[in-house]
Amino acid sequence: MERWFARHQRPLPWRDTYEPYRVWVSEVMLQQTRMEVVLPYFERFLARFPDLPALARATDDEVMAAWSGLGYYRRARMLRDGAFDVLSRFDGVIPSDVDALMSITGIGRYTAGAIASIAFDRRAPIVDGNVARVLSRIFAVEDRQSCLSGQAGQAGLPVLHRQTWALATALVEVARSPRALNQSLMELGALICKPRNPTCLICPVADSCVARITGRIDDFPPPKPKKETRELRIPLYLVRDRRGRVLMRRASGTLMDAMYHLPHGDTSLLDGAPPLAATPGALLGTFRHTVTTRKIEFLLYEAEVQGRTKGFEWIDIEKMHEIPHPSYVRKALKLIQ
Ligand code: ADE
Repeated sequence: MERWFARHQRPLPWRDTYEPYRVWVSEVMLQQTRMEVVLPYFERFLARFPDLPALARATDDEVMAAWSGLGYYRRARMLRDGAFDVLSRFDGVIPSDVDALMSITGIGRYTAGAIASIAFDRRAPIVDGNVARVLSRIFAVEDRQSCLSGQAGQAGLPVLHRQTWALATALVEVARSPRALNQSLMELGALICKPRNPTCLICPVADSCVARITGRIDDFPPPKPKKETRELRIPLYLVRDRRGRVLMRRASGTLMDAMYHLPHGDTSLLDGAPPLAATPGALLGTFRHTVTTRKIEFLLYEAEVQGRTKGFEWIDIEKMHEIPHPSYVRKALKLIQ
């Protein structure tokens, strides 16, 4: 598998030097976001904050502006807080030890394992979604215990979680290179052992994969319990002044706190803010957007305001890259550019 990785790995920007700060940033970005989305952000983020002290000293607004569009914004603030923690407690030097790493603000078991193994080649296991799927197939990890306890499908995940971490721990103990092993498992999950239609014919471990040998690839990993999703339709208002600036409001909510939002006409409260009283005009376009379990169809209308716009600000679209804004705002503004 490691030989396959050496030949077929993608040339990712942190794989040239495995500099710990770059590995850390990449892992945090990749935690909830796909690789092709992360790559351009990674380059821009590193250009903006080239080293740990630069990030540690950044303000909330600076970090949020660079993170705008990546989503799950708490990650960005935690990353900056973590950098500050390293600067104050470790003299700015990212430690290589898992326990020391886990003592840093915002770093959990996964990120600690990723930094220790990928940046420092230390014997630390990591299991993310890709690795869990790969290991569950190679070793045919079932959620038997959950079946026996009468909660099939519900209690399956903790079993899968526990078993795959145990397997990853055992494998990394005997690996020639923890860095190569852990990245091989991730890369195999991303390129070959995909959730649907894995390409077992070209898989380097097909001969030792129990799911493959027994013809049960589709049984692994055990299916997750379905999350309830909510469908919403939300009208957005594009209100422009004579200079072409756009009316926006800075939220002080929770999910995307402190970000700039477009006014909306939703009575179910998009982000804790009341809808704007506006007269909608032409429909400029629609787009879909998913936030955690909410599937939203946004309808962007040209609009005029009646009355007060207290709490709103006029924003120059050319300067959007300097202010923090969620990705649905980016999608909306793309419709008019
Ligand atoms: N997904 C998360 N971390 C990754 C890494 N280091 N390489 C490839 N895919 C990943």
